[in-house]
Amino acid sequence: MRYLEKSFQTFTLFPLVLYKPNNYILRLMLTKNSPLLITAILMTGLLVVSASCTGGQSESESTSVTESVHQQAEQPDLPLIYHMSFISRYSKKLYFAGEAENWELADIYNHEIEEISEDIVTRGEVHDGINISELMDTMLLPQIEQIEEAIDSGDRKMFMDRYNVMIQTCNQCHAASDYGAVKVIVPETNPFNQDFSTD
Ligand code: HEC
Repeated sequence: MRYLEKSFQTFTLFPLVLYKPNNYILRLMLTKNSPLLITAILMTGLLVVSASCTGGQSESESTSVTESVHQQAEQPDLPLIYHMSFISRYSKKLYFAGEAENWELADIYNHEIEEISEDIVTRGEVHDGINISELMDTMLLPQIEQIEEAIDSGDRKMFMDRYNVMIQTCNQCHAASDYGAVKVIVPETNPFNQDFSTD
């Protein structure tokens, strides 16, 4: 019975783990469609319980299946550079929104950068012995909080100063991660087909 409980927990949590890279979908399901999510979880749980009751697998076999599902779920999904490209993209958009004093939009991009960074922190990213997740936690996240303060106070000068410091931090982390060749700068011209102004 303990085993059943364990596999039930694993399989009910698994859809959540699967959705973790896409927090947006999870949030949508949780806020707008929680009955659907609960039904999906219950159905998955029921399937697992009935499979373990009728499957006739020995406990050790089933445990190894459960473990391999776990390992799969814990493995980093997309490579770091993919997430970094999004951080780069949103940090540019953040700049133009802040420059235009469009604080609502700036807040959106700052939060996106924060979410991606937090994901990198929790996924245990280690490259050639360098703990990228730890660097992310200690270097970039505090800068994001600083920028959030500037956005909340609607202070353009404070935003610009703190944005500059953040870009320096990006490059310091690239150097610390042995990727010093990647040098980012404060954007100069808007490369996006997007109007960042408030009206
Ligand atoms: C935790 C350290 C760290 C921080 C902080 C960091 N980066 Fe990175 N960045 C990396 C690493 C490591 C790579 C190389 C990833 C790879 O190739 O696997 C990278 C790659 C990149 C790339 C190359 C990908 C591309 O699309 O060209 C860009 C651009 C980039 N980072 C921008 C930024 C920006 C902008 C910030 C700050 C807002 C930032 N990074 C903050 C570690 C960091």
